[in-house]
Amino acid sequence: MKFLKFNNSHLASEFVKEQIIKQIKTKPESILGLATGSTPIISYNLLVQDFQKNKTNWSKVKTFNLDEYIGLPTNHIQSYRYFMNDNLFNHINIDINNTYFPNSKNDYDKLIEKEGGIDLQILGIGTNGHIGFNEPGSKLTSLTRAVDLVEQTIKINADKFFNGNISLVPNKAFSMGLASILAAKKIILIALGNSKKETMQKLFKTKEFNSNFPASALIKHKDVIIVCDKECAPDGL
Ligand code: F6R
Repeated sequence: MKFLKFNNSHLASEFVKEQIIKQIKTKPESILGLATGSTPIISYNLLVQDFQKNKTNWSKVKTFNLDEYIGLPTNHIQSYRYFMNDNLFNHINIDINNTYFPNSKNDYDKLIEKEGGIDLQILGIGTNGHIGFNEPGSKLTSLTRAVDLVEQTIKINADKFFNGNISLVPNKAFSMGLASILAAKKIILIALGNSKKETMQKLFKTKEFNSNFPASALIKHKDVIIVCDKECAPDGL
């Protein structure tokens, strides 16, 4: 795991944007793994700006999102499909039929494999160390499946996205597993802000996989970049 520290969230997101663009330019038919949540929003905005300015060609790109809530219709404003359409897909020339989310009908890992595997996986991280919705206790061998969200995740997502109303947040989601994530050729995890500092400190010290801290699975992968802003960068970096 290679840790990079940037002076602010904009510069960190700029780096992530550049890596995505480099990937698409090197391989126009790239398969990207994408995350939702508050963290990647600036990177997606920058990708939209890049498209408006430079017309980077997304027409052959395929995307696989990490997760999707169970129980929200896809046109719900808090569904991850809605989030991605709204923050990125509606503003670039991607073929919407080439944008995938896990659901009860697809065999997601097989589908990803059939497309040749994920070239670049973008991740966020929960304060409890979840990646995707692989909550503490997730196995290293886990594949895409329905998962239960833990109370802490529901509470944080309620505060960030559902006006603090816990009862509106689904308690289940489909999520790529830790093994699904580790199958990606390259991984970039982005963390921003002081609330992620302790989590980054823990990740920085990781020497082996510990299922109570799912992001520690990343220690098993050869090509992982952890992007932090100054506020969440671990001490000693
Ligand atoms: C979302 C996802 C989650 C988030 C994590 C951090 O697709 O997979 O793991 O990345 O919950 O969320 P934010 O960015 O809102 O802090």
